[in-house]
Amino acid sequence: MREIKIEHSFRLFEDYSSFDAELTTLFEAAKTATKSAYAPYSGFRVGAAVLLETGEIVIGNNQENAAYPSGLCAERVALFYTSARYPDAVIKALAITIDYSSVETDDIIPPCGGCRQVIAESEAKQTGSIRIFLLGRDQRVCQIDSIEQLLPLAFSREVLSTVKS
Ligand code: THU
Repeated sequence: MREIKIEHSFRLFEDYSSFDAELTTLFEAAKTATKSAYAPYSGFRVGAAVLLETGEIVIGNNQENAAYPSGLCAERVALFYTSARYPDAVIKALAITIDYSSVETDDIIPPCGGCRQVIAESEAKQTGSIRIFLLGRDQRVCQIDSIEQLLPLAFSREVLSTVKS
C-alpha cells in the first residue's frame, strides 16, 4: 500500500483593488451577471465572466428550469457560450460569484463538481491553464491558478485514447 498526498494551493485577498484594470473589469462583469440569472426555484443567483486573450469578456449566469435537471450553472453557460461563439478563443481567466445580497453567508462559494469538469475540459482544449477567481462579499477574492488545484485526478481525454480499436 502507498499513501499518496495531493497538495492544493490558492491565494486569498481581502480586497481586489490591487488587481489590474482588466481583472477588476472582469470581476465587476461577473457581479453584474448575477443580476440577470434566471433562478426562480433556488433563488441562488450565480454569475460568471470569462476573459479571453483578446480582452473580450463573455458572461453567463445560472439558468434554472421547472424540470430541475434541465437547468445549467453559470460557469457552464459562460464557458459553453464562449466555445460556441469563439471556438478558437484562448481563455485567460474565469471569475465566479454569487449575489451576496440574497444570501446569509460570507463564505466564498466554489464551483460544483460538474463545472470543475467543464473548466478542466476548457483547459485541455486550449492546452493552457485558466486562472479562476472566486469572488466573495465586498472585494474578497480567492485566486486559483488552474483547475488542477480544484479537481485533482480529473477524468480526461487521455483515458479515452486508451480504448481498443
Ligand atoms: N449553481 C451554479 O450556477 N454554479 C455552481 O457551481 C453551483 C450551483 C447554480 C445551479 C442552480 O441554479 C443554483 O445554483 C442552485 O444549485
